[in-house]
Amino acid sequence: MHFTTSALGACALLSLVSAAPLVARENTHKIDTVEDWPAFPSGLFPSVSGLFPPSPTGLFPSSSSSTPVTFPLPNGFPNIQDPSSALTTIEEAAHGTLPNGAPPPSLNADDATSLQLIAFNELFEVFFFTELLQNVSNNVQGYQVWDPIVRQQLIAELTAVVAQEELHALNANGALAHFGAQTIQPGKYHAGVSDLQSALTKASTFTDLVLGTLQDVIVKLGVNGDAALSRGIASVVGQEGEQNGYFRSLLGKLPSSLPFLTASTREFAFSALNQNSVTPGSSPGSSSINLPVFGPLNILTQDIAAADQTLQFSFAPTSNATSANGLSLVYINQQNDPLILALSNVTDTNKEITFSAAFPYSSHELNGLTIAVLTRGSGPFDGVDDVAKATVFGPGLILVN
Ligand SMILES: *[C@@H]1O[C@H](CO)[C@@H](O)[C@H](O)[C@H]1NC(C)=O
Ligand SMILES: *[C@@H]1O[C@H](CO)[C@@H](O)[C@H](O)[C@H]1NC(C)=O
Ligand SMILES: *[C@@H]1O[C@H](CO)[C@@H](O)[C@H](O)[C@H]1NC(C)=O
Repeated sequence: MHFTTSALGACALLSLVSAAPLVARENTHKIDTVEDWPAFPSGLFPSVSGLFPPSPTGLFPSSSSSTPVTFPLPNGFPNIQDPSSALTTIEEAAHGTLPNGAPPPSLNADDATSLQLIAFNELFEVFFFTELLQNVSNNVQGYQVWDPIVRQQLIAELTAVVAQEELHALNANGALAHFGAQTIQPGKYHAGVSDLQSALTKASTFTDLVLGTLQDVIVKLGVNGDAALSRGIASVVGQEGEQNGYFRSLLGKLPSSLPFLTASTREFAFSALNQNSVTPGSSPGSSSINLPVFGPLNILTQDIAAADQTLQFSFAPTSNATSANGLSLVYINQQNDPLILALSNVTDTNKEITFSAAFPYSSHELNGLTIAVLTRGSGPFDGVDDVAKATVFGPGLILVN
């Protein structure tokens, strides 16, 4: 078969390409922020306003309260044998199976750390999405979706996501067990949100961080001689990206946030989970994960807009850094060189140090996830790994658009 383009076809194609920007300029104003984006036709993508206003009275007469999610789950998770009817039930709900290929002959200890981090994270995700599904299904106050089609879609997707995350966790722990490494068991978690919009925003934020962290995991698999495992990890990157696109569209955002998703490291993901979501010491096995937990970096500025601005931050001094002296603020966004910013307006009350720093949005197109950390010294840093080595506080997670 030959691919040919007639002269006429090529011409028409070219004129289409060159005409498109002109048409856009004439007919609409510049569309490049969520605010500028025209409303989705109703029924195609639900808009924020269609999803989240208070439901018409009487539609949800009794809003039941949320019941705590504890492990093991009613289906026995995480204690699932392979094979078993419990696993088959999870696989049916997940629309697919655990990988059934033979594992590679060996696993580098550093990559066992990566699988432990993945299990630690996936267990939290199982918790989060199980609780979210329950809140939506039970019409918990703040989680009532009055559009019946959207509600049905959301419940169908969350049902699949819970089972898919269960398989991600079982897969990571299964590999750890196979290689005789410490597995990770569920702990106590807190979602830290109490309405659907915040829950979807939180899910989108931690998923973005995971999508960056799995880049780091894949690099290490290659460097450590475990490249055979990277295919399966890359398949999860795409899978979680699909989830995130759906959450983003529910929030009225463009489903795909950036051309190149923001890089992260294992240290940032482990720190964020410990700081925000997991009760310290509650997850058996997690103390053996050979990654640091940095001090928290709080972002005081709320609802950060897509604009150049000054942001306010704070941190509680620790033995690692008792003052702001010698610290720099570093932003990581997309696959670009880390941005290093000076701290200004520092106030030190002994218990809490607050400071300001610029957020140079427009010159760097700081859309999607930006990871903010405080480093010792001002670099220059040769990529995200180098930043992680110098980090003392963080990560602060900034989501624009
Ligand atoms: C579910 O709702 C309860 C009650 O509002 C809330 O505390 C919890 O954080 C919610 N969980 C999620 C994942 O949204
Ligand atoms: C100090 O830094 C190390 C390594 O980054 C980290 O493991 C430890 O938890 C930090 N200590 C405190 C008190 O934040
Ligand atoms: C300085 O910090 C305070 C809060 O500590 C903040 O209200 C103020 O806007 C900051 N000023 C500048 C110029 O960043």
